[in-house]
Amino acid sequence: MAEELNIPNSSDRSIIYKALLPQIEALIADESDLTANLANITAALKEAFGFFWVGFYSVKAGQLVLGPFQGPIACTRIPFHKGVCGAAYRTAKVIIVPNVDEFPGHIACSSASKSEIVLPVLNHNGTVAMVLDIDSDQLEDFSETDEVWLQKIIRLIEYKL
Ligand code: SME
Repeated sequence: MAEELNIPNSSDRSIIYKALLPQIEALIADESDLTANLANITAALKEAFGFFWVGFYSVKAGQLVLGPFQGPIACTRIPFHKGVCGAAYRTAKVIIVPNVDEFPGHIACSSASKSEIVLPVLNHNGTVAMVLDIDSDQLEDFSETDEVWLQKIIRLIEYKL
């Protein structure tokens, strides 16, 4: 396993994602522990893009429960009917929120968070097993580029669930 990530010096996120994807794949390839792999994925995304907060919430006993993350402390439990994370869980769809203040029911774990993307992570039955939540301290920081590449990263773990 590489000891450090090789991140291209570019402002083009596609270029960074393209370089990052095989490195994440290599990072988790020989490790069977899910928590360890989720932890390294959050660290890699945080390091590559400097996002404000990157983390997973897992479906546990009828709620979303905080899993491995990078960033400030966060809400530990999110009911399915609340927040962007709850909406991504219920719809099993990627949700991009350009301005969190305009999303009804958004849960503000931090007032510094301005925009957000949440992606459902499916298990082998196609059921949402967790969500990946990324917060930015910039408005309108996420686009289809993030959605497409983050889906590819998620697929690296989905088939193991
Ligand atoms: N904002 C999320 C809650 C999680 S924190 O941002 C880390 C939401 O509305 O679901």
